[in-house]
Amino acid sequence: MKANSEREQEFSSEFQELVSKQENINKKPKKFLWGVATSAFQLEGSPYADWSTWDSVFNINPQITNHYQLYKEDIKLIKNLGVNAYRFSIEWSRIQPSEGYWIKNVVEHYQRIIDLLNENDITPMVTIHHFTHPIWFINKYPWHKRKSIEKFVEYIERLIENIKGVDYWITFNEPYLLILGGYVEGCIPPGIRDFNLAVKALKNILNCHSKIYDLIHLVNPHAMVSIAHNMAVFNPWTKVNPLDRLIAKVATDFYNHSIINGFLTGRVSLSLPFQKSIEIDVPIKGKLDFFGINYYTRVHMRFNPLKKFFVEFRHRDIDGHGLTDMGWEIYPKGLIKVLKYASTLNVPLIITENGIATKDDHKKIKFIKAHIDALEEAIKLGIDVRGYFYWSLIDNYEWLHGLDARFGLYRVDFKTYRRIYTKAASFYSYIIRSRKFPAQ
Ligand code: NOJ
Repeated sequence: MKANSEREQEFSSEFQELVSKQENINKKPKKFLWGVATSAFQLEGSPYADWSTWDSVFNINPQITNHYQLYKEDIKLIKNLGVNAYRFSIEWSRIQPSEGYWIKNVVEHYQRIIDLLNENDITPMVTIHHFTHPIWFINKYPWHKRKSIEKFVEYIERLIENIKGVDYWITFNEPYLLILGGYVEGCIPPGIRDFNLAVKALKNILNCHSKIYDLIHLVNPHAMVSIAHNMAVFNPWTKVNPLDRLIAKVATDFYNHSIINGFLTGRVSLSLPFQKSIEIDVPIKGKLDFFGINYYTRVHMRFNPLKKFFVEFRHRDIDGHGLTDMGWEIYPKGLIKVLKYASTLNVPLIITENGIATKDDHKKIKFIKAHIDALEEAIKLGIDVRGYFYWSLIDNYEWLHGLDARFGLYRVDFKTYRRIYTKAASFYSYIIRSRKFPAQ
């Protein structure tokens, strides 16, 4: 015979399951989200962030687009586009410029942005972590140290308590890019080159995702929480070369798929060429209400014994769509490929970023049209896509590239902070009015 307390526990877990099923039904968004995306640091900088000393651009142009002051005008620009959603981030280093400090005014500033968006029927999607950290955090508690979890979660608990009116949350933007750049290549903060530390850092970051997911749901059971995962298409440099094919497959499994499998199973398996894979157990199984995908390009992979992990890659204009100003191949069909794989997660998918760096408006228009056509094809195939966010609303700072990579629908004059409407902006408005995608 089972003890009463045991039965009670069983009942309570069944009840919990029922409630969560019901909540899942309620969670469905009512409209297809047509949006634009930005991140705080890329628009407004921050003297307290690790990146402000990493790139000399900030010595000359610390305010970047001066969005911190001009946010009201920028929300008018969003409104003018006719989009119904806006993805942006909250700059942690402005809220906690020193350890133990909490700058209330800054939290209120971001709350004003959220309120203004809601008043204008623009759904806010808030990114909690978009590459930057307070300098004190990255110096004292970098991600490979266990204490990083405690420090980050302390910040998030307080942030979530204070921020109201948000249903869509991204916990981490492109965690793999952060790890590969920050811990393998060492080209972005914290500038470490150590694969073992990279694995530890990834584990801590995914643990944070899990904790933040739970915290947000405690406050808002209807919240939609995800990460924004950068996905690319990896092709072999030479199709007939089995080693190039192997490298392309390893890259796809590592970069695109391992985290998706992690959300499905609670285990992230990282494989490197000719090595036993590394398994990380992380409590993220099912901790997703939708899946955010940042899609930009295709990369051609080659086996090269002289390179780190035997991997070399480059961009090539194979299909005639051209390259962007950053040299990335334009490959719209790739969007369908990555959406297909992500759909194995069985949660709604949202394109949280897609965009092009170019000064040529005509090229930007072609890029947008071709990618939205691909998106439409994916939807027709039955893939459950619920939103598309163009990167970016206005020109801004591009990591390691400065101010010359023009992703914006509005051009920015970085001397006068003037925003200039472009034909690409008018095209985006037109296309989102004319495509009727299911709202589900
Ligand atoms: C993805 C990143 O999230 C964003 O910060 C960056 O500007 C774009 N890619 C373009 O590189």
